[in-house]
Amino acid sequence: MDYRAARDAAHEDPAAFWLERAGALAWSRPPQRAFAVDEDGIARWFPDGELNTAALCLDGHVAAGHGDRLALIHDSPVTGTISRLSYGELTARVARFAGALRELGVGRGDRVVVYLPMVPEAIVAMLACARIGAVHSVVFGGFAPRELALRIDDARPKVLLTASCGIEFDRVIPYVPLVEEALALAEHPPAHCVILERPQASARPARTPEGWTAHDWATLEAAATPADPVPVAATDPLYVLYTSGTTGRPKGVVRDHGGHAVALRWSMEAVYGVGPGDVFWAASDVGWVVGHSYICYAPLLMGCTTVVYEGKPVRTPDAGAFWRVVAEHGVRAFFAAPTAFRAIRKEDPQARLLAEHDVSCLERLYLAGERADPPTLAWLEETLRIPVVDHWWQTETGAPVCAVPLGLGPMETRPGSAGVPMPGYDLRVLDDDGAELPAGETGHLVLKLPLPPGTLPTIWGDHERFRAGYLERFPGCYHTGDGGHVDADGYVHVMGRTDDVINVAGHRLSTGEIEEVVAGHPAVAECAVIGVADEDRGEVPIGLVLLQDGAGVDADALEAELVARVRREIGAFACFRRAVVVDRLPKTRSGKILRRLLRGLAAGEPVAAPSTIDDPAIVDEIAARLRDAGVAP
Ligand code: COA
Ligand code: AMP
Repeated sequence: MDYRAARDAAHEDPAAFWLERAGALAWSRPPQRAFAVDEDGIARWFPDGELNTAALCLDGHVAAGHGDRLALIHDSPVTGTISRLSYGELTARVARFAGALRELGVGRGDRVVVYLPMVPEAIVAMLACARIGAVHSVVFGGFAPRELALRIDDARPKVLLTASCGIEFDRVIPYVPLVEEALALAEHPPAHCVILERPQASARPARTPEGWTAHDWATLEAAATPADPVPVAATDPLYVLYTSGTTGRPKGVVRDHGGHAVALRWSMEAVYGVGPGDVFWAASDVGWVVGHSYICYAPLLMGCTTVVYEGKPVRTPDAGAFWRVVAEHGVRAFFAAPTAFRAIRKEDPQARLLAEHDVSCLERLYLAGERADPPTLAWLEETLRIPVVDHWWQTETGAPVCAVPLGLGPMETRPGSAGVPMPGYDLRVLDDDGAELPAGETGHLVLKLPLPPGTLPTIWGDHERFRAGYLERFPGCYHTGDGGHVDADGYVHVMGRTDDVINVAGHRLSTGEIEEVVAGHPAVAECAVIGVADEDRGEVPIGLVLLQDGAGVDADALEAELVARVRREIGAFACFRRAVVVDRLPKTRSGKILRRLLRGLAAGEPVAAPSTIDDPAIVDEIAARLRDAGVAP
């Protein structure tokens, strides 16, 4: 089936189209129905199906005689090690660790928070939860204790899984003190914490745990009785992954078992054009959706070999790191964020280090996480001379909304575009009033309901937030929060967020969340955080702060304190490095901060004061302050 045929089939009869795709999986009870809205008003795919995602990822391949096939390669330049697990070995480890979790009292529907660096145990942990019907919630290892605590309190896990440390370039980051702090901050700490001891740091808690017990991962796993996979409803939650919304409170995107498995397996064939035995590498982190979908689940559902890379694009040890991994492991399809290639290009513009590696195995490169800037795209195409596919998706969708699905046949890629809507996505462009815009005109990118399998059915514990946040703005549609246009040939051009979400080096952050932290400083009366363009990271946050009357602090000292505060409370990866003191903030007459105006001023663009502004004189005042601070050009 080519792209057009698949797109039309999914549009004309979604139920038949997706039931046919579902037929590629070995269900414990195959679904008879494709779609239903449940008694809580939640849209559900395959409501009468039963399966176990971990069994599909592991046991199924072993039973089919592929136990010796390589499932996972852990390539860790930061520790100088490479290790490999076959499907048979990974299945055995997952079964045993699932047994260990069960012995700690974890059962179907219970949550397990995973706070781990890029080690094989992160994949073992996720699949072990899936095996016994527990719900994992992986928290990116760069998040600070306060963020971890927020997620713990929302997910209310029975167990927390962590390691003694992560490693950033050559810096060892002990996790245990961070976890101890998070557990002390959390109102609902789990009863158990399992710690993977790594040679670089001790796993021993510094203080006697209060209200929770620390366990050694290896001891627990070695002593456990392996657990068999438990068939669960297709509509059961497989995981909750927190992502940034427009407010300070992260939202738990829920992923179900059935729709997720169907959508991901099909995406491997349709979008990425890979099959069993191929080596697939997504250079992301298990803490992000790319890591969930394309480091863990999709490659294993398809019987591929997945690469878990514990390193960086540069300085581990050099800008040839990615090419080394591709060549050494025979990677066929590779997926990374544009920011990683900006870093490589900056250090090795002539791609001299590429010449040291034979990357002829690599057939296609995929980019996502942020807009692929045309210069980086052109550099990659010239350097690699293979198709470079920019594709667009979100934590909420779990798989690409738009792509150039080369697995469905040859198709042109187009610089500046993230491709065409994937079968099952009915994408429209709307103006502020909800009227549909013609080709070429920029507006809100929305997806007509129902969303296809694999997309979020709800927000963990807060369906109303899902409804209000995604479905209310444009009735009958899912509001993506991204703006863009569709060109005359149907290619989608995603231009960026229309809300207060920003994208820093491919990491999604909420300016509202940073504002809460900045505003918590005793000298700050009010603040606005906005994203400004950054040539390395795409976008970085900056703060404009208004001081409390009589605060009497030095602006440089305050900036340093605010930067430290955001690092401590959110994480260094937020890259909050500038806070500019202003006398007042531009507001509407009803008191709303004019953020769009601020973004324009920070970019040095000529901006007209909106008619709603309370005092037009502030435009020149703020522009001058941003120039003086070196923020605006
Ligand atoms: N744990 C702890 N700290 C982390 C971290 C983690 N997992 N990830 C990042 N950080 C820290 C970094 O150490 C750095 O700290 P510093 O300010 O003390 O030096 C800070 O957060 C900023 O990190 P980053 O923006 O990543 O910059 P960098 O200089 O460390 O690395 C790149 C630059 C380009 C190598 C890196 O940004 C990168 O690999 N980007 C790709 C991201 C990606 O794959 N995103 C995919 C999402 S799909
Ligand atoms: P996340 O949920 O962290 O995956 O971030 C999703 C957001 O990243 C999207 O809403 C977009 O704003 C942005 N994004 C992801 N991929 C692309 C892309 N290919 N082009 C433009 N923006 C992208």
